[in-house]
Amino acid sequence: MGNRAAQFVAACLICAVGAEDGGGWSLPADLSLGDEGTCTIEVLDGSELSHQQFIERYAFSRPVVLRGLTNNTKFQRLCSKSSLLEKYGSLKVRLSTANTHSYRKVDVLLQEYVDEFLRPQSEDALGSETLYFFGDNNFTEWQNLFDQYESPPYVLPDTTGAYSFGIAGQ
Ligand SMILES: *[C@@H]1O[C@H](CO)[C@@H](O)[C@H](O)[C@H]1NC(C)=O
Ligand SMILES: *[C@@H]1O[C@H](CO)[C@@H](O)[C@H](O)[C@H]1NC(C)=O
Repeated sequence: MGNRAAQFVAACLICAVGAEDGGGWSLPADLSLGDEGTCTIEVLDGSELSHQQFIERYAFSRPVVLRGLTNNTKFQRLCSKSSLLEKYGSLKVRLSTANTHSYRKVDVLLQEYVDEFLRPQSEDALGSETLYFFGDNNFTEWQNLFDQYESPPYVLPDTTGAYSFGIAGQ
């Protein structure tokens, strides 16, 4: 059997992460954008499902959210706004456009991105005019932080994970 190239992307969007105060990140109070109703994906406590059951019931047939399999408390703390800006604020990050293939890339300092780009925008703004920090991570500069991320223990056979780190919120 050929080597399956399937990959899954675990999106680490920091949107009101962990801590009660959202780690210093906030969302605008009137955020209704993209609200398309209730999420119907099953949510299970990881302790209720073995890896074998995950493979049989979900892996190849339907999505599921598993909670409680990892403890990323520390990673969440490191991703607080103050911590990220203190350690990484003066580093350049590469922004991509929100349209398919994200071909336009813009480099700015993380501090600039947070101060100037992270704000609500109108629903009719074009994806090609929307720049955000997601993926295109410099794994040399961010290695110390990424090392603290505890990845999900349940994986699909013959696949490898591909992680993208980015920031949404304010
Ligand atoms: C998660 O880890 C933190 C330390 O990083 C610890 O204080 C906390 O009790 C742990 N939570 C659980 C549910 O194990
Ligand atoms: C990543 O960061 C390192 C260290 O600052 C730098 O030497 C390297 O050029 C960067 N890589 C890219 C692709 O920007």
